[in-house]
Amino acid sequence: MKFLAVASLLAIVSAAPTPTQPESGTPLLAKRAGISDAANLGYATLNGGTKGGAGGTVTTVSTLAQFTAAVNEKNSAPAIVVVKGVITGNTKVRVGSNKSIIGLGQGSGFKGVGLHFRRQKNLIVRNIVSSFVEADQGDALKIEESTNVWVDHCEFYSALVSDKDFYDGLVDSSHGSDFVTISHTFFHDHWKASLVGHSDSNAADDKGKLHVTYANNYWKNVNSRGPLIRFGTGHIYNSYFENVESAINTRMGAQVLVQSNAFKNVTYPVASMYSKEVGYATVSDNDFGGAANTAPAGNMSPSSVGYSYSLLGSSAVAAKVPKEAGAILTF
Ligand SMILES: *[C@@H]1O[C@H](CO)[C@@H](O)[C@H](O)[C@H]1NC(C)=O
Ligand SMILES: *[C@@H]1O[C@H](CO)[C@@H](O)[C@H](O)[C@H]1NC(C)=O
Repeated sequence: MKFLAVASLLAIVSAAPTPTQPESGTPLLAKRAGISDAANLGYATLNGGTKGGAGGTVTTVSTLAQFTAAVNEKNSAPAIVVVKGVITGNTKVRVGSNKSIIGLGQGSGFKGVGLHFRRQKNLIVRNIVSSFVEADQGDALKIEESTNVWVDHCEFYSALVSDKDFYDGLVDSSHGSDFVTISHTFFHDHWKASLVGHSDSNAADDKGKLHVTYANNYWKNVNSRGPLIRFGTGHIYNSYFENVESAINTRMGAQVLVQSNAFKNVTYPVASMYSKEVGYATVSDNDFGGAANTAPAGNMSPSSVGYSYSLLGSSAVAAKVPKEAGAILTF
């Protein structure tokens, strides 16, 4: 098995000093952060790849106004937008194509501020902590009609409040979005974590699209949608699920390839539930923690995703994945 070089990447970035002043336009910052990196795994590597704002201007922002201006959806010029500290509000921000949104240090990101990618291409979100985005603002990250998105080393959460709909999704992809990778991300304390395909009646937009990879993620204290997928094609591997009711729910003809995951206290690890039409799952080397896969068998194979990838093996996931997921990069 090949091995993802996460440990060595971390060693390089943690050796770098943390800047004390906001910096603008410095290639040094970009280099230090490794933020000119393109997506190197999953569906986001296909369709021309995902480079975000690589090669563009580098701007450090710490207020909502600065952030909104820096990611302006009317401006698709490449830009690396470094978020310093936590930007709070009760709103959502539309983001334009060719951007990387990078959290500086540990704990930078958004509270109550949702990100909305709509009809955009080539976007990266890394090392961001996003919390408590209320349903009026959509999801913590809503990806619609957009292609080539890489979400990496982020943390998304709210709280399991009594009203299940007070918060909507954490990272949702819909309306024909395609070539999305979500990797090394920590989803926790939330009702409806991650949705792919927003409704049973959206075949016209979604069939043949919605290719989404979920790799090396940690899902904890989540009720459902880890992920819920309709119509699309999903690849879920090297992930750890803990205290979840319904994890992978494949519906409306979706096909998912589920490999090298471990589940602890998960009622429905892989299933096809609550749908007009079933979805399908191809599963191998998963530790279902005493529960079972109940989805109909799918037609994917280890090579059908069209990119190469590295499996940890389900027995290695619990010890490795939780501690390497989340906004732990020290840019
Ligand atoms: C943004 O990226 C796309 C490819 O994703 C490219 O076609 C377009 O020219 C870029 N825009 C700018 C202004 O560089
Ligand atoms: C098991 O997970 C459920 C959520 O599905 C949670 O309510 C329960 O507290 C968990 N049990 C333990 C022992 O953590």
